[in-house]
Amino acid sequence: MKNKEKDIRAIWAESEMVFIIDQSKLPHKLEILSLKNYRETALAIKEMKLRGAGTIGIAAGFAMAQAFSEFSDIDKIQKAKNIIEDTRPTAQDLFYATNLVYERSKSCENPKEVAWKTAYEILKKDIENSKIMGKLGAELIKDGYNILTHCNAGKLAIAGLGSALASIYTAHNQGKKIFVYVDETRPRLQGSRLTAWELSQAGIPHGIIVDNAAGYFMQNGKIDIVFVGADRIAKNGDVANKIGTYEKAVLAKENNIPFYVVAPTSAFDANCKTGNDIVIEERSQDEVMKINDKYVANNGSKAFNPAFDITPARYITGIITEKGIFRNGKYKIKNRKLE
Ligand code: MRU
Repeated sequence: MKNKEKDIRAIWAESEMVFIIDQSKLPHKLEILSLKNYRETALAIKEMKLRGAGTIGIAAGFAMAQAFSEFSDIDKIQKAKNIIEDTRPTAQDLFYATNLVYERSKSCENPKEVAWKTAYEILKKDIENSKIMGKLGAELIKDGYNILTHCNAGKLAIAGLGSALASIYTAHNQGKKIFVYVDETRPRLQGSRLTAWELSQAGIPHGIIVDNAAGYFMQNGKIDIVFVGADRIAKNGDVANKIGTYEKAVLAKENNIPFYVVAPTSAFDANCKTGNDIVIEERSQDEVMKINDKYVANNGSKAFNPAFDITPARYITGIITEKGIFRNGKYKIKNRKLE
C-alpha cells in the first residue's frame, strides 16, 4: 500500500465535496469516498465508513456546511442538522460541530461562507490540539516502555496525529524505543484493523492481542502505561469510550499501571454531570454475530452490542487535553470555544 503514515488523512473537503478514507475497507483496501451532499456525509457517519470521535466531528461540521450550501431555507437546514445528529449519539464532537456551524452561520449575511469557514476551522483546530496532546503524552513515555491501547484513537480517528496514538507517534519520533500492545477491539476490530495498520505505516513495533488478554499482559509486567481516547467526558471526569475501556481501566488500577485518557476539550460535555448521563450507542447484534459478514455465532442466539462503556473518574490517572493534563478528578470543564 503506497500511502505512508505521514500522508494519512481520514477526511478533507474540496469544492464543497467531502472526501474520506473508507475505514470499513481497511487494512486491505485504501479507498477514498467522495460525499457530495449532507445526506451522503451523514450516511457515511452512520454506517461507520468513517469513525472515531474527532473524525465524526469534522464530518458533522462539513455535513452542516454542505446543508448550508444546499439550502437557504432555515427549516431545511434545521432538518438536516437533526438528520446529521441522529447518526451516532455518543461522540460529543459531533454535536459540538453541528451546533458551532449552525449557530455561527444561521443568521449572518453570508451563511454558506461562514459555515464552510467554521467547518475548516474545526479540522485545523483538531490538528493543532493533536500535536499538543501528543507532546504532553510523550513526556509520560519512557524509553523502553510497553504501551497498551484500545480501539483506534489515531490519525483515522482525529485529524493530525490522533489522540491516544498522538503520544505514541510523538514518543517514537523522539527516538524512544517503545512497543505497543493493540487490543483487537471486537466487534468491529478497530484495533487489529486500524491501529495496527497505522502503526505499521509508521514503523512502530506493535503486537495485536485479543480483547480478553490485556489482564494477562498487565499481570505479567508487560504493560507500563495505558493510553486510550474518549468519545465524551462528563463533568465529574467519567469517560465514555469504546466498549472494553472500563475493564482495561479497572485492570490497570489493580496492577498499579497508569491509565491515561487523551482527548481534546471538545469531548467534554458540561451537560452530563456524570457518566450516567451519557447516551450509549446500541448497535446491530449482527456486528457481534458475524465476522467479515459471515455468521460465526450460534444461529438463533441473541446478542447485545453496546458500542461504548463508562470508565469512572476514579480509575483514570489523568486526562490529557490540549489545555494540559487534568488529574485527581480536578476537572474544570467548559465546552471548548474556538478562539
Ligand atoms: O465506534 P468508534 O470506532 O467511532 O469508536 C471510537 C472510539 O471509541 C475511540 O477510542 C474514540 O473515538 C476516541 S478517538 C478520537
